[in-house]
Amino acid sequence: MSQLVHARCPILHDGTQWAARHMPLLAATMQNEASAFAGRRIGICLHIEPKTAVLVGYLAQAGAEIILTGSPGTTQEDTADALRDYGITVVGHRSDDLAQHRENITRVLDAQPDLILDNGADLIEGVHARGGMPGLIGATEETTTGGLRIRSWDSQPEFPVVVINDSRLKLLVENEFGVGQSVVQGFMNATNLMIPGAHATVVGYGPCGRGVADTLARLGARVAVADTDPYRALEAVMAGHQVGELTDLLPRTQLLFLATGHPGVIGAREIGALRNGTVIAGVGHMPWELDASALAEHTASVHHSGPSGQERAVHRLHDGREVIVLADTKMINLTAAKGNPVQAMDLGLTLQARSLAAMASDHDGTIPAGVQAVPGPIDRQIASDLVHALSRI
Ligand SMILES: NC(=O)c1ccc[n+]([C@@H]2O[C@H](COP(=O)([O-])OP(=O)(O)OC[C@H]3O[C@@H](n4cnc5c(N)ncnc54)[C@H](O)[C@@H]3O)[C@@H](O)[C@H]2O)c1
Repeated sequence: MSQLVHARCPILHDGTQWAARHMPLLAATMQNEASAFAGRRIGICLHIEPKTAVLVGYLAQAGAEIILTGSPGTTQEDTADALRDYGITVVGHRSDDLAQHRENITRVLDAQPDLILDNGADLIEGVHARGGMPGLIGATEETTTGGLRIRSWDSQPEFPVVVINDSRLKLLVENEFGVGQSVVQGFMNATNLMIPGAHATVVGYGPCGRGVADTLARLGARVAVADTDPYRALEAVMAGHQVGELTDLLPRTQLLFLATGHPGVIGAREIGALRNGTVIAGVGHMPWELDASALAEHTASVHHSGPSGQERAVHRLHDGREVIVLADTKMINLTAAKGNPVQAMDLGLTLQARSLAAMASDHDGTIPAGVQAVPGPIDRQIASDLVHALSRI
């Protein structure tokens, strides 16, 4: 088992320093693997928030040159400013729209990185669109959504892409327990509504949806689940949730969580079935599970309220019903809370750093090109380290 350490994160920012205290796996990894990153140029697209800043600080300390941009709508500006103060190139802002986000991606790729650390596959798709990138050693992709996107291409990348979400360990710790806690926390921050007794429906019972459904149930919500995969639906039944067709569940639903990762899951038919006053929150990576144009067609007027990140859009529909959409269905745990819990991200970012270090040190070319899971021995070692870190008294 590797030694657990609390290294000193160089980013002098209160939230980042707090996160670093609880990220021993990443600190140990960066001490052991620092030489793999010295002199490398690393292009990163990740949520810009304190846990990411811990990783970026360690990479810079190891001698890497970083060019970083955020995922759409989730950048925490104070963290971005602290990184800039330390000399990191940070591209973009929280308020950027998707067109500006694409420009930010282009700027990162124009720097010709040796390694890519991606979240949603925007950078990797940019490389793909350019027909490759000379000198690119490999990439990591954080999400299920990004992994599916890459696997759907006819021609696969000619460099290794390690999909972090294919790690069983990451699915359990981050997607299930981390997302479950932080999504419900974000929902409560954005609405101040009561969870006990509420009729909540979770669409999609993958690890993320399961975490949200189970957390809501533990707080006393009456939870229903819709999943098109019968095995996942069966798991939800076994966990004690009500399971049914989405359009049958919606007329009772007060709180609606979207956790499928797929576009247009709430379309015209589903909007027609929504209960008056339903509050909708996004969990999946992209804010596309609610079909915005279908909602616009049903909407007579919209009233916006709430502070930045916790925006509530009250849609009054032509038939008089109201539907409340939180933060345009962007991930509620990032817009209205502080993202996944620190220890969950210690794990996720450690998987990223260990996978990138393995690629950077793979001088014999033993890691094949194309999409693949985190190497088994790395995953198992980190699982063992995490048990040790979390069970210390
Ligand atoms: N908010 C966060 O912090 C965070 C963290 C990790 C992952 N994610 C994102 O959350 C999403 C879900 O992740 P996951 O790991 O649980 O994914 P997953 O693919 O394992 O699970 C998604 C589930 O949705 C179901 N589904 C798909 N289309 C459906 C439909 N039309 N109706 C009902 N069910 C449907 C699938 O059958 C599947 O069981 C992804 O977009 C992922 O990138 C968010």
